[in-house]
Amino acid sequence: LVTDVRLRRVLDSRGNPTVEAEVTTESGGFGRAAAPSGASTGEYEAIERPAEEAIAKARELAVPRLEGQVYAGDQRGVDAALRAADGTENFSEIGANSAVAISMAAAKAASDVLGAPLYQHLGGAFRGDEYPTPLGNVVGGGEHAADATDIQEFLAAPVGAPSVTEAVFANAAVHGAVHDVLAERDLPAGKGDEGAWAPSVSDAEAFAIVAEAIDRAEDEVGFEIRMGLDVAASEMWDAESGVYEYSDTTRTSEEQVDYVAGLVDDHDLVYVEDPLEEDDFEGFADLTDRVGDRTLVCGDDLFVTNVERLQRGIDEGAGNSILVKPNQIGTLSDAFDAVELARDNGYDAVISHRSGETEDTTIAHLAVATAAPFIKTGAVGGERTAKLNELIRIEENA
Ligand code: PGA
Ligand code: ZN
Repeated sequence: LVTDVRLRRVLDSRGNPTVEAEVTTESGGFGRAAAPSGASTGEYEAIERPAEEAIAKARELAVPRLEGQVYAGDQRGVDAALRAADGTENFSEIGANSAVAISMAAAKAASDVLGAPLYQHLGGAFRGDEYPTPLGNVVGGGEHAADATDIQEFLAAPVGAPSVTEAVFANAAVHGAVHDVLAERDLPAGKGDEGAWAPSVSDAEAFAIVAEAIDRAEDEVGFEIRMGLDVAASEMWDAESGVYEYSDTTRTSEEQVDYVAGLVDDHDLVYVEDPLEEDDFEGFADLTDRVGDRTLVCGDDLFVTNVERLQRGIDEGAGNSILVKPNQIGTLSDAFDAVELARDNGYDAVISHRSGETEDTTIAHLAVATAAPFIKTGAVGGERTAKLNELIRIEENA
């Protein structure tokens, strides 16, 4: 039985306040978790409230429905209590940040009581032993860095890695090789919010830089590394003029589909996230028709981890993959429902961090628990390596 729920403000990786929750149970179980935060957030995400407000509201409305009321191991019960306490569709009362922190902390408290790792508690005794391939953000711009690429994320995908551990080191090798290539080309660059290099170059130049870095890293590690993208197209979309605005041009929806289909072929992309803006189910469906047999077309802002939006995508053939971010929907139960609906309909569920992160490692466990093919959690930086290093530990101990 949950006996104590504590909430506090802590820092996220951007230096903003976020919500941390601690759940204690009668039998001595303890779990702690913190909410991440997006910058290129989807319009249809659950609502993140300022940390202080979210904490005050959760203390008033949610904590009394949890303490002495629910079992930490009953995740659906915990999450139903959070929904009932909030009373809205999108957690606009207690904040999705308070909700997700409590939901994840309860899961950790339950795993503590069980004496089993979190992935085992969430994935069950009979889960397989599949591990996700980490997608490493190595060059980026968009909303995550000023004066850098239009495309938000250029991702390394070490698909040939024999283990998670080797995949994690491969992504770091690509990240390091990008640094070398930038230095050779006399292109100084800082890093964006997720630790990716943020050079002031065109997208075309970024493709060349990342391709060169991947070649070098492949020589070093001895297995295949492919490339992926998060276009984050909603951030480029200008609804008024009905075009995507790039630094050097504009593209209509049809032109955007052609452009991205060309990128998939030219760069042998294994993964393309948010190639169209968040309301363009039709554009997603067109692109999926054209390249869905050879690449994952993944909806992040399109689906926002929401089963209703995913169901619409399934009905319309939009995408073949969903990005799963628990804080986009507010609870682990909702995130699992999205994974299940995806799986039942042949969509791959990819687990993801946010651009604003903490040392919390829940998503590493979630990816293993759900046998996700990929996890997006950056390549370098402490809040990113927290998850990557946890994957290394999970693989070693499993
Ligand atoms: P966000 O970006 O966390 O800033 O939304 C990550 C993403 O778009 O995948
Ligand atoms: Zn995204």
